[in-house]
Amino acid sequence: MKKKAIHRREFLKSTATAVSAGLILPRTTLFGADAPSNKLNIALIGTWGRAHAHFGAISSENVVALCDVNEKHIASAAEKFPKAKHYVDWRKCLEQKDIDAVVCCTTDHTHAFIANWAMNRGKHVYCEKPLGNSVEEARVVRETYLKNKNKLATQVGTQRHAKPNFDRVRELVKDGAIGELQAVFAWGNRQIRRPGYPPAKGTPPKNLHYDLWLGPAQWHPYNPVYFSGGPGANCLNWNMYWDFGTGQVGDMGSHTMDLAWNAIDAGLPTSAEGSGEEFNPEVTPVELETHFDIPANDWRKAIRVSWYQGGAMPSAPRRYIDLNRIGHGAMFKGTRGFVVADFDTRVVIPYGNDADFTYYKRRSEEDVIQPMGNFQREWIDACKGDLKTSCNFDYGSKLIEMMLLGLVAYRVGKKLDYDPVKGQVTNSAEGNDLLTDNYRQGWTLNG
Ligand SMILES: NC(=O)c1ccc[n+]([C@@H]2O[C@H](COP(=O)([O-])OP(=O)(O)OC[C@H]3O[C@@H](n4cnc5c(N)ncnc54)[C@H](O)[C@@H]3O)[C@@H](O)[C@H]2O)c1
Repeated sequence: MKKKAIHRREFLKSTATAVSAGLILPRTTLFGADAPSNKLNIALIGTWGRAHAHFGAISSENVVALCDVNEKHIASAAEKFPKAKHYVDWRKCLEQKDIDAVVCCTTDHTHAFIANWAMNRGKHVYCEKPLGNSVEEARVVRETYLKNKNKLATQVGTQRHAKPNFDRVRELVKDGAIGELQAVFAWGNRQIRRPGYPPAKGTPPKNLHYDLWLGPAQWHPYNPVYFSGGPGANCLNWNMYWDFGTGQVGDMGSHTMDLAWNAIDAGLPTSAEGSGEEFNPEVTPVELETHFDIPANDWRKAIRVSWYQGGAMPSAPRRYIDLNRIGHGAMFKGTRGFVVADFDTRVVIPYGNDADFTYYKRRSEEDVIQPMGNFQREWIDACKGDLKTSCNFDYGSKLIEMMLLGLVAYRVGKKLDYDPVKGQVTNSAEGNDLLTDNYRQGWTLNG
C-alpha cells in the first residue's frame, strides 16, 4: 500500500500535538532544532524598528513573508530575508498558506488583532508587548489561545523575563526570605508628555500606507511626527495616544510588572483603583498609580499589587533607601522584610526584631531555578517541540488585563469591583463600557 505523503506543515502540527500529549520525543531531540527539514516558515509583521531585535533569532528559520505598512521598511528587511513574499496588509499576509509562525512587531493597537487572526489560522505567535490595549482585547486573545493551546506556542515580547535576576527574586519571595508576602509594588519613571494628537501636517509619503497604519484605530490626520523616531524607539511617538497605545502602562509596565508577577503567581484581580494627573481624552496619563486586590493562591495569602508611573512612587521601606534611584523596579513587602529589585539586581532588607533569617532556607544548587536561555529561541523551540514558553498568552494576557483595568479605574475615579471570571466590573456601568475599545468599520478583533 502506498503511504500517504505528509506535508511539512502537517508534520510540524501533528508532531506538536503528539508531543503535547506526551506521545513522542520532540523533533528537536530527534533531528536537531536547526535541521533543514525542521525549520519554521515565519511571517514577520512589522519589519523595522523592534523587528531588528528578532532578525538574529528568526534567521535560523525560513522567513517566508514580510509585511509592513511602509514599503521602504519591507525593502530593507528583504535584504536580509530575500526569499520572503511581501505584503502591506497583515490580513492578506496571514492568508499565505505555508506560514507556520508569526512574529508581530507592529503598533500596539494592532497586536491583539494580529495575534487572534494568526492563531485562528493555526499559526504560532510571538507578539511584542503589550498584548492588547483594552481589557477586552486581552481577554479575547486569551480565549483564542486557550482554545488552541494544544497546538500553538505563543510568547509575549517581554524578553527581560530571561534575566537570571527574575528567578533569583522569585526564589527569595517564594521561599520566605521576607516572611509572608503582603504587598507588591512595581514602578517606572519614563515621562513623555504630549498635549494631544498632533495636528494634520503634510501628506503621507508614497511608500507609507497610512490608512493601514491607522488600521482599526479611529481616524486621525497624518503627521510625520508619528514616524520620526529611531529604530526600536519610534513607539514613543505614538504609544501615549489612547487610540494607538496605553502609554507606560503597556510600554515599560509590561516589562516591569512581569518582574513582579513572575515572583508571585498572580491571577486576575478582584478590584482595581487608580489615580493620577487630570484625565486627557487624547493622551494617556504620565503620572498614575493603580492598585489591585489579588486573590490568595496555594503558597501565599491574598495580596495587594500596585503600579506607579511618571513620578508616582511607593514609599521606601526606610528613609535612607531612595527608590527613585531605580528607574524601573519592583518591591516586595513581607512580614519580615523587603526585596527591592531592578531588572538585573536585588537587595533583601530584613525588617523587625525577629528578622534573623532562621525561617529562610536557601535553595541547594540542584533546586535553583534553571536559566531559561534565549527568550526568542524558547518560543522557536516551543513551536517545534512541547509548545511550552515562559510568557505564553495565558500568563501575558492576564498581566496586561490587570494593568489595563487599572487605567479603567483611573478613568472612572473610584474603586472598581471586578469579576475576573466574567470580565465584568460589577459596580460601575461606566467602568464596564471602558473595558472595550471602539474600532473603525471593517476591522474585526477576532477574525
Ligand atoms: N520588547 C521590547 O523591549 C520592545 C522594545 C521596543 C518596542 N517594542 C514594541 O514593539 C512594537 C513596535 O515598536 P517600534 O518602536 O518598532 O514601532 P514602529 O512605529 O517603528 O513600528 C515598527 C514597524 O511596524 C510597522 N507597522 C506599523 N503598523 C503596522 C501594521 N498595521 N502592519 C504592518 N506593519 C506595521 C512600521 O512601519 C515599522 O516598520 C511596539 O508594540 C513596542 O511596544 C518592544
